[in-house]
Amino acid sequence: MRNLIDIVDLSTGEIEELIAVACDIIAHPDKYSEACHGKKLATLFFEPSTRTRLSFEAAMYELGGHVLSVSSSSSSSAAKGESVADTAKTVSCYADIIAMRHPKEGAALVAANNASIPVINAGDGGHCHPTQTLADLLTIHREKGRFDNLTVGFCGDLKFGRTVHSLINALSRYENIRFVLISPEELKVPSYIKRDVLKKQGFSYVQTTDFEKYMPELDVLYMTRVQRERFFNEEDYLRLKDSFILTPARLKRAKEDLSILHPLPRVNEISVAIDKDPRACYFKQVKNGKYMRMALILKLLGIEVK
Ligand code: CP
Repeated sequence: MRNLIDIVDLSTGEIEELIAVACDIIAHPDKYSEACHGKKLATLFFEPSTRTRLSFEAAMYELGGHVLSVSSSSSSSAAKGESVADTAKTVSCYADIIAMRHPKEGAALVAANNASIPVINAGDGGHCHPTQTLADLLTIHREKGRFDNLTVGFCGDLKFGRTVHSLINALSRYENIRFVLISPEELKVPSYIKRDVLKKQGFSYVQTTDFEKYMPELDVLYMTRVQRERFFNEEDYLRLKDSFILTPARLKRAKEDLSILHPLPRVNEISVAIDKDPRACYFKQVKNGKYMRMALILKLLGIEVK
């Protein structure tokens, strides 16, 4: 039985296979409309979500399956102190596959170790968010047509940003990727990502607090929110939250074919005036997330559509 806890659980070939299936779903949605007939997805979300939970649910409905949902800790027996392990064993009696979000790093792995059905990590604390990475990769694939030879800027909260950690990991499989890591000093990429991914594999990267310096060189700009929920101290959050705001003026020196991504939700870090710019890809990214989750559900349930 396969789970998806971390993007490293998928080989490069498997990621490319998921992208191919997602592209086929986009081109031929009718072919897939009954693929999961009789199957049930349980979405267990112990932390807030709009896109991930609803896109998993939309994905399962569009595959002809059914959905069981826990949308908050307070509405489940987690509020009475039930463990993640017992929840996973219980839900395995009702569903065929689980997508789980939890505020604690490692919770999805605990669920996978105790469930008798596949478990998908839909975000575990500040650790990983592999299905967001699949959405990001499909977006880069559709916008740029390649993963090699790209200069990719990450901007905002690179410390707690689980989507950043997963995407750096995924892109590090490709050739000639240059990373520009733009963040306040306090929110730099964790040292284990630098040590185990960037330095170990000899990637070219710069860390900077200067938002504009590298703008003309970027092929992809991945903006992120400073996440209030990850701070212990409200004062630090208030001091850092508006460190980098992307405005039309700041894009003046950017490439004509820059792709601007953001996992969303957005707070202030991208001005709404950018939404009309053809380089803004973040709502396309939302849609791409649903297609990649459809492809992933099929893969983990072992369903092949001819
Ligand atoms: N990108 C993302 O994970 O969004 P949600 O928190 O709304 O699921």
